[in-house]
Order: sequence, then C-alpha cells, then structure tokens
Amino acid sequence: MYEIIRQLEEQRARARAGGGRKRVDAQHGRGKLTARERIDLLFDPDSFEEWDMFVEHRSTDFGMEKKSVPGDGVVTGHGTINGRTVFVFSQDFTVFGGSLSETHAEKICKIMDQAMRVGAPVIGINDSGGARIQEGVSSLAGYGDVFQRNVMASGVVPQISMVMGPCAGGAVYSPATTDFIFMVKDTSYMFVTGPDVVRTVTHEEVTQEQLGGANTHTTKSGVADTAFDNDVDAIEQVRRFMDFLPSSNREMSPLMPTDDPAGREEPSLNTAIPENPNEPYEVREIVRKIIDEGDFFEIQESFARNMVIGYGRMEGATVGIVANNPNVLAGCLDIDSSVKAARFIRFCDCFNIPIVMLVDVPGFLPGTQQEYGGLIRHGAKLLYAFAEATVPKVTIITRKAYGGAYIVMGSKHLRGDVNYAWPSAEIAVMGSKGAVEIIFREDLDDAERIQEHEREYQEQFANPFRVGSRGHIDDVIMPHNTRFRICRALRMLKGKQQENPWKKHGNIPL
Ligand code: HXC
Repeated sequence: MYEIIRQLEEQRARARAGGGRKRVDAQHGRGKLTARERIDLLFDPDSFEEWDMFVEHRSTDFGMEKKSVPGDGVVTGHGTINGRTVFVFSQDFTVFGGSLSETHAEKICKIMDQAMRVGAPVIGINDSGGARIQEGVSSLAGYGDVFQRNVMASGVVPQISMVMGPCAGGAVYSPATTDFIFMVKDTSYMFVTGPDVVRTVTHEEVTQEQLGGANTHTTKSGVADTAFDNDVDAIEQVRRFMDFLPSSNREMSPLMPTDDPAGREEPSLNTAIPENPNEPYEVREIVRKIIDEGDFFEIQESFARNMVIGYGRMEGATVGIVANNPNVLAGCLDIDSSVKAARFIRFCDCFNIPIVMLVDVPGFLPGTQQEYGGLIRHGAKLLYAFAEATVPKVTIITRKAYGGAYIVMGSKHLRGDVNYAWPSAEIAVMGSKGAVEIIFREDLDDAERIQEHEREYQEQFANPFRVGSRGHIDDVIMPHNTRFRICRALRMLKGKQQENPWKKHGNIPL
C-alpha cells in the first residue's frame, strides 16, 4: 500500500511538473502563467478537483512512445468560482506545446459532457500549437469531437474561452463556437492561417500580432470580446464576469446582495440629454447611473462602439444592457453594431437574462460600404434576435427613435414588454429635415416655409406623445426615475411566460 501511495505521489509530481523547469521558465519568460497556475487563480482556494491527471497519449509514431507526460498537455477538472461549480480545461503549453492529441481531446470532451449533465459552465483556457503534428488525423478527429460538443452545449451551459497563447488553424473554431472569447494583450493570437501562409498566398506582410493579436480581434474583427493586460487581470475579470451568468439554461443568474435602493433617484439624468438634438453624449454614463452600484461589465467595448452592450444588475439580478451610443456615428445602426447586439441578445435569451434597451438611434448608417456589406442581412439579425427573444424586455427611448431603427431597437411591435420614453424622445418615421424635403418638395426654394414645415413636423411627430397616444409606448417617464421604473417593470415581469411556435430551429439570416 505504501508503495502504491508513493508511486501515486510520484505520478502526480510528474504531471504537475508539466514539460519541466526549462519550459515552465520559458512560459514565465513570455509573461504567461502555466496551465495550473491559471487554474489556481481562477477557482476558489482548494476547490479544484483535477480529472485524468494520469492520462497519456497512445501515439507510437515519430518516436512518441518514448515521450510521454502524464496529463498529455491539458489540465481538466472542476472547481468553484465564488461558490458555484464550473468545469475547466487549461492547455499546458509546456507539454508538446499544448498541442491537441486524441487523448487530450478525450479529456476535454469528458469534462464538457459532465458539465452538460450537471448544468455548469465550461471555461476553456487555450494555449496551444494546434493539432499534435505527430498524430495526424487522430488529432483532427479530436478537434471534431470538441467542436460537436461546443455546438451541443451552446445555449445549454455558458461556454467561455480564454485565449492565453497561440490558437491557430482550425483550432480557432472551438473558441469561435463558444459564447465569449477573452484574450490577453501581446501574448495571445488567433488566426486561421498564419503570417507565412498569408505571405505566400496574398503577398501581404503581416506580423502575428497584426494578423490575430488581441487588439486586432477586439477592435477590427470583433472575434474576441475583450482584451486584458495580462493573465492575472484576465482571470480576475473572468471570475467577476461569471457572477453575472447563470450556471445553465435551467437556472437564473445568481442574486447578488446590493445596498443600492430600487427607488434611488438620479436627478442628473434629467439633464443628460443635451438641448441640441444633434449633440452627442456618452451613454455609458446613463447606464452606470441606472444599474446597481454602477457595476457594469461591458462586452466588446472597443468594437462597433456605436453600440454599447454588457451586464449590470437591477435589484441584484443580472440584466443585459443594449444601448445606442450617440458618441460614435451618432449612434446609428450599422453592420457591426447590429451583429454585436444581436448576438448579445441571443445569449441573454438562451440564459434567462432580461434585456434592457436604451434607445437613441437616428437610423441605419447610409452608404455603399454598408449596403454592399449586407446591412440588410446583418440588420435583420438584430430584428430577428429581439423579436424571437422571450425573456423580459424593457425599452427606454431617451431621444431619437427613427424609422426602421425604431422598430428594431426593442419596440413594442417586436414584443417589447415594457416600453418607456423620456420626455426628450423623438419618435418618427424619419428626421424632420428629410421628411419635409420629401413631403414639401414644391417649397424647397422657400427657406422660410421649409423651416415652418420642419417645425410643424417636429411638433407633430418628434415627441413621445404621438406614439404614446397609440399605445406603442406604455408611459412617458421622468429620467431621474428611470432606475425605479425599470426595477418595477422587471419585478412585474418575473413571472413572464412566453413561447415561440414549435420549430426545429428558426432560420436567422446568418
Ligand atoms: C506537436 C508541437 C506543436 C504541435 C508546438 N509543439 N506545436 N508539438 N504538435 N502542433 C512543440 C514544439 O515542438 C516544441 O517542443 C514546443 O511545442 C514549443 O514550441 P516552440 O515552437 O518551441 O514554441 P514557440 O517558438 O513559442 O512557437 C509556438 C508555435 C510553434 C508558433 C505554436 O510551435 C508552431 O508553429 N507550432 C506548429 C503550429 C502548427 O502548425 N500546428 C498545426 C496546425 S494545423 P519542444 O520539445 O522543443 O519544447 C491544426 C489543424 C487543426 O492545428 C484543425 C482542427 C479542425
């Protein structure tokens, strides 16, 4: 017995040593933590239970039978984050470059299957040279098995990818099918084909960082949600993030205690909207004044900045905030902002998170670039996502809500549950200038008359009362009271039950 225990300890020590001191030092030298150090920081102290620590690869090609490290380049298991169970796989770059073998994939699949059975989130920490080259197609098959599980878990348990090193080739498609991708600045990158292939095929000179670094994916491509400064920062923020999410689609998000009263008035909101309707303002300031303690976890902060999305809480319960930001492109809807908000709304709907929309949108962004890029298809995604969502939906029109964008941004017509307008709201089919130029074309040469028509149009349509008289908004509310009104609306909506007609799945315009 003692001998077995000694052997067990020895095996554990071998597994914990990963690829050895030299490779661990190299990992640290790059500013990265090891797979196990990341797990230690991610989970509550002493809560992590490792699985399959003794698993070794079965490969015998290219001399691999002589090279084996227990664990096979990935640490898997479960633990708790602020008391709730979460499963994890953390690729160990110090062992065969974290490359994915058949057995490495089996370990990942095992924890994913278990997470699905118990209804717990999966966090994947990616730091890998891709398919284990010595294993060839077996490792490709392993990726396929992981992808299939990513897709099956989608909408069942939250899946979070932390890209903390290389993630290249087809391997990127596992994170890509998860709900959120967080990257680390300067040490992580994702691309389908690397700089060498790019040079050969398209003759473009580009570095790894330019092609697929955290900055690229959080500002240009929108592939990643947020970039953090380093491993420690990323892990701390993901721990904070997990508190906003439910464990599965069968649960609600955890209720967090708060000292922020639901009835807190915010007088500064009464002057948040500038007198001049064309003057921009920062919508995040409004968001922070409304939610519990101003605690906002923003997603995709640096991408499609004309739309702000993220999580906050009202009376301790998570809400998803979707807000036009007049500070960028006047808050217009364009391709990127539509897709950004649509995907966010779908996550909220999968996971029982009520949606709060703050609307100040002058319309869709005009131009050939947008039309050629498929604004019709992409704008439809936002419409589709909101219309399909059955979670509680509360909309506040703070200023402009024009044309198609009025409908798309959380209107009553797309099953908005509670729709409020501030007194500053302007809800119309289009702006008064454009409208008058069409209706009163014959007066175009008479500046005075045109001005008069504009004033008339403004008075008739560009206010909340016309729409209010039709019941398309439920009330005109005082800005300072917005928090209370949203809290009360969400309280009323707690018991909301709504089902869509039976279908295998809808056909969102992808
Ligand atoms: C086996 C690998 C490996 C791999 C790295 N290693 N990638 N072993 N299979 N895919 C090993 C190296 O041999 C080395 O072992 C150790 O990991 C560290 O690698 P280095 O090259 O020394 O590190 P670095 O200089 O930081 O470069 C990292 C890297 C590079 C850029 C990731 O290793 C690299 O280009 N690797 C190959 C990437 C690749 O082509 N992968 C296959 C892509 S195809 P020692 O023993 O020396 O420490 C693919 C298809 C997926 O992934 C399809 C899914 C559908």
